[in-house]
Amino acid sequence: MIEVTDLKKIYRMGSVEVAALKGVSATIARGEFVGIMGPSGSGKSTFLHQLGLLDTPTSGRIVLDGTDVSRLTDEERTHFRLMHLGYVFQDYALVSELTVKENVAIPAIMKGRPLSACYAAATEVLEKVGLSRRLDHLVHELSGGEQQRVSIARALVNRPAILFADEPCANLDTENSRTVLELFRAVNKDLGQTVVMVSHEPWHREYFDRIIFIRDGLPDTERTERGGQERGST
Ligand SMILES: Nc1ncnc2c1ncn2[C@@H]1O[C@H](COP(=O)(O)OP(=O)(O)OP(=O)(O)O)[C@@H](O)[C@H]1O
Ligand SMILES: [Mg+2]
Repeated sequence: MIEVTDLKKIYRMGSVEVAALKGVSATIARGEFVGIMGPSGSGKSTFLHQLGLLDTPTSGRIVLDGTDVSRLTDEERTHFRLMHLGYVFQDYALVSELTVKENVAIPAIMKGRPLSACYAAATEVLEKVGLSRRLDHLVHELSGGEQQRVSIARALVNRPAILFADEPCANLDTENSRTVLELFRAVNKDLGQTVVMVSHEPWHREYFDRIIFIRDGLPDTERTERGGQERGST
């Protein structure tokens, strides 16, 4: 499903170079719920951005669902994102002038589906995240936890092959974080949705099938672990 080989990302700012990823190789299977963890500045977001085609790596190979995305043109990458990938961000990134249902329908509309089908798909996925009574609200009328559930519904509306989330609970309290994590787990188990999620909260580990630890731009293989009972303490 996801195959990453020797992925490097060097940010250049004038004469200064920052090697954010120094050669990461990893494989993520279809249907896995994988956590990306590691210290602040270790390269977690950078890793997710390369996998999610939100940025272009300096070198290395990424194969998503059988497609070598490293070889795609910009236009093909945009199309691939729309057709195959979903995203959830820390700050929700919703359009405040639109209703809940309209926000969720956006990726379906961009895909060119008939409007009625887009709104039907949006309504269905909003039911799944427990917001069927908020369809016509403006997003600012919702709590932070509800807004994050709207953004999860939006990420799922086109039934993406892979769902990427970068610290989706960073702005939420524990209770809302649990709701979001349980939602991810439910779509992972019920729909077989592949989920790749960055987190730095140790207690989130219980939700992941597997964790890829990143330290200083490289996988920390000593800490890379399976979920479940095999886990040791921190
Ligand atoms: N656009 C950018 N330009 C220059 N340097 C960057 C850029 N984005 C990230 N970096 C640098 O790359 C390194 C990795 O950053 P990244 O955001 O991937 O870390 P992170 O593990 O997600 O950290 P955090 O837990 O704080 O979110 C850091 O040293 C950061 O300063
Ligand atoms: Mg980050």
